[in-house]
Amino acid sequence: MRLENKVALLTGAAAAIDGELMGFGGASAHLFVREGAKVVLTDIRDELGERSAAALRERGADAIYRHLDVTSEADWKQAVEDTMEAYGRLDILFNNAGVAFPSKIENLSEETWDLELAVHAKGAFLGTKTVIPAMRRGGGGSIINTSSIMGIVGSPTTPAYSAAKGAIRLFTKTAALQYAAENIRVNSIHPGYATTPLTSERFSDPAVNEVLLDKTPMGRLGTAEDIANGVLFLASDESAWMTGTELVIDGGMTAQ
Ligand SMILES: NC(=O)c1ccc[n+]([C@@H]2O[C@H](COP(=O)([O-])OP(=O)(O)OC[C@H]3O[C@@H](n4cnc5c(N)ncnc54)[C@H](O)[C@@H]3O)[C@@H](O)[C@H]2O)c1
Repeated sequence: MRLENKVALLTGAAAAIDGELMGFGGASAHLFVREGAKVVLTDIRDELGERSAAALRERGADAIYRHLDVTSEADWKQAVEDTMEAYGRLDILFNNAGVAFPSKIENLSEETWDLELAVHAKGAFLGTKTVIPAMRRGGGGSIINTSSIMGIVGSPTTPAYSAAKGAIRLFTKTAALQYAAENIRVNSIHPGYATTPLTSERFSDPAVNEVLLDKTPMGRLGTAEDIANGVLFLASDESAWMTGTELVIDGGMTAQ
């Protein structure tokens, strides 16, 4: 029970139904409840999110779903208020919501640029800002921000996404410095190419699949569980002396 008595809020976590393809949020929610946490799933896909929370409850978990568009400060306030009302504390925030729109820079619209920056960078900022008071009241907490390998090395296909993921990487370190003394830890994860609802269509195209496998020394794409295991470690007290770090989980892609 690595997360006993802890309460976690996860964004972008609507896809969490056993037997269906899960994202990092859904897979992490499953590991979190297995390890004793109460979970608040959030997303903008409300119907799927409600079904996921109900399925977790059927397995005996403490789980609720709330609508949370991570670009809306009002939604953040409501979701954190609901979490405190339901469970009385908030120990873990997994900032995970994401969107990806491949494009050449000359064809990239201002709207798409703004959306990528809003969902990833502003989302991580608003989430961190909103949970800090609740975590402080509980004596500390762990915030895990989802960057990417594309926040470390350049991406040939996703300029706005890479800019946003790079922003998350350094926002994480600044947040870590500001709240280290209050035992609120902030770390980033950097997944490589993994099959999830966000990527399965694109990554299963044989031509794309071949390129990605070629770039991945371990010879397979990642799974949501590969990433969730790292998220669980950063969420738990096993990483108690880690803050401002980058956890790369990429089958060796950025080692070369
Ligand atoms: N799959 C990969 O290969 C990969 C690699 C590196 C990083 N990532 C990142 O991991 C995170 C999770 O993605 P995933 O691959 O598990 O896919 P996913 O589709 O399961 O998760 C993304 C979720 O974010 C939600 N979302 C989109 N806009 C939102 C908004 N404004 N507010 C709230 N929720 C919103 C979507 O509805 C979706 O459920 C994303 O940040 C993604 O960029 C993914």
